[in-house]
Amino acid sequence: MLTPAERDRAARGTLPVHRRRVLVRAGLRQLLGQLLDLPPAAVPLGSDRGRPVVLGRRWGRRPQASCSTSGDVALIGVSTGVRLSVDVQQVHGEDVEVAVAEGWLTEDERRGVDRLPPPERARAVARAWVQKEAVLKAEGCGLIRSPRTVLTPGADHGLVEGWALSPVHPAGGAVACLAVRAPTCRRWVPQLRGWAGRPVNCS
Ligand SMILES: CC(C)(COP(=O)(O)OP(=O)(O)OC[C@H]1O[C@@H](n2cnc3c(N)ncnc32)[C@H](O)[C@@H]1OP(=O)(O)O)[C@@H](O)C(=O)NCCC(=O)NCCS
Repeated sequence: MLTPAERDRAARGTLPVHRRRVLVRAGLRQLLGQLLDLPPAAVPLGSDRGRPVVLGRRWGRRPQASCSTSGDVALIGVSTGVRLSVDVQQVHGEDVEVAVAEGWLTEDERRGVDRLPPPERARAVARAWVQKEAVLKAEGCGLIRSPRTVLTPGADHGLVEGWALSPVHPAGGAVACLAVRAPTCRRWVPQLRGWAGRPVNCS
């Protein structure tokens, strides 16, 4: 399914990175192919400073795509035109003090986490991280912009800088966020509550 350039890029990683890049790119091609009614290999998939983009002029509303991986979970989001992004993170006992010391969690966000019962805190820190990354990836700049500058809502759902954030619940208990450009999504984002994602076989 992959182009020679995609295969070359994948092969420049270590073995796990190589495998992950091949599988995720194949998953992206497979989902976009279903959307565009094209074989996966024929999807004109490129990249804009790292962000996956569907190339060409023939699309009325250009399909949009985003992907993220953490551990053995990959999350792929596609749409028929609404700008979106996804981010996923395994929860490994994240610590609020470490997040503040690393400089990406603000004092306000820390206070919000501190108000939660201790068993919920690690997940809240991971949630803040995926929400920040989802916004930065939706903007297209990634971590070039400091994640500290993205102020998260302290809740599963929220509106941040014009991006409507919703939780996604991948298998295995990872924390994940979907960011969708807000004006277009008010009608249907509520329907995403409890959305569990759909496994894709790209083996
Ligand atoms: C984008 C970024 C936040 C991803 O972080 P991560 O947690 O390591 O990785 P994730 O698994 O969540 O996401 C990786 C995917 O995000 C996408 N991505 C990469 N850069 C992106 C960007 N600027 N915007 C949106 N999506 C991006 C890619 O599809 C990538 O998958 P791939 O490497 O298999 O192609 C991080 O890699 C980053 O900030 N990179 C630097 C961005 C950059 O140099 N931008 C320059 C232009 S301003």
